[in-house]
Amino acid sequence: MARPTRAIINLQALRHNYQLAQTLAGAGRAMPIVKANAYGHGAINVARALEPKVPALGVACIEEAVELRDAGIRKPILLLEGFFSEEELAVAATQNFWLMVQNEWQLDAICRPHRGKPVVAWLKIDTGMHRLGFQPEQAADIYQKLQSSPQVADEIVLATHFASADDLHSDFTTRQIELFQQCTRGIAAPCSLANSPGLLGWPEARAEWNRPGFMLYGHSPFTEPHPEAEKLKAVMTFRSEVMAVRDLSIGESVGYANTWTAQRPSRIATVPVGYGDGYPRRAENSTPVLINGQRAKLVGRVSMDMITVDVTELDPVNIGDEVILWGENLSANEVAVCADTIGYEIMTRVHNRVPRITTQ
Ligand SMILES: Cc1ncc(COP(=O)(O)O)c(C=O)c1O
Repeated sequence: MARPTRAIINLQALRHNYQLAQTLAGAGRAMPIVKANAYGHGAINVARALEPKVPALGVACIEEAVELRDAGIRKPILLLEGFFSEEELAVAATQNFWLMVQNEWQLDAICRPHRGKPVVAWLKIDTGMHRLGFQPEQAADIYQKLQSSPQVADEIVLATHFASADDLHSDFTTRQIELFQQCTRGIAAPCSLANSPGLLGWPEARAEWNRPGFMLYGHSPFTEPHPEAEKLKAVMTFRSEVMAVRDLSIGESVGYANTWTAQRPSRIATVPVGYGDGYPRRAENSTPVLINGQRAKLVGRVSMDMITVDVTELDPVNIGDEVILWGENLSANEVAVCADTIGYEIMTRVHNRVPRITTQ
């Protein structure tokens, strides 16, 4: 019998979520973002499942793109951070990796004669994230420079990235959209603005190219209910099984540093999952855990390989009973809040020692 901790990856849910993204994109295209091992879901399996339907895929860096090519993925792959060296540029040119161009060095390098075919460039404009990209007032000149270079393929995409589209009440996104529209007015090129919250919640952000990531994995990027986000289906079920059950008397504690002490006679189930698997160590007492489909509460510190759960009020719990850390009936977002983080982070952190099992 193997350690029962697994991440079950439901590819049907993934395809459903991609279909929703594509529907929202309307006449535009939806490029699935599969960086960081497809947000912890397994980049190769996710890319293989989506490839027949998608125009291209997006990753952060060339290592991630090469991994997908080596696995047989043939569609274009956009490197969201662009390239870091001339060598990467040469590889990109031969491998049909598309390049985000976000600084002067990349701009000069891509326009200089390089080995290989012309590369596809996306021009990143900084409309307020202030992380990467050219100033809005530079957009027309830089576009011109890219367009006149024989090293750059004809279709150049104008792109920007939102800082707070997950906040549906902030007008910052509206200002970013307006600034983007102003500085690209008169340039006859396709545009790309929307990430998941942009695509789901900001119709005016939808454009020729859209870059959904988080939503594809089935969770809402918003903290409030949203009608489109409610259609999403969780792709990952992080599950395990009870490995031990014991009774504690009043006054007995559980786990490292005795951070939880029984205030009543208590039954504790031990589950073989911990921060070494990606379960967040900062998850506080009372973080929900599903045991046999019933909600129970995490108690005591999360260890590297185990957690402990108060099952006193549940129907009798036995060794081997099913435990869900997050999935369809317990959102990763809810667990994330209990660990003072976001669903993006906890899914991305599911460790490699956890086998990913795909279901079709
Ligand atoms: C440039 C860019 N586009 C798109 C995405 C996808 O964002 P999300 O996962 O919120 O859909 C990211 C993710 O961080 C990104 O950096």
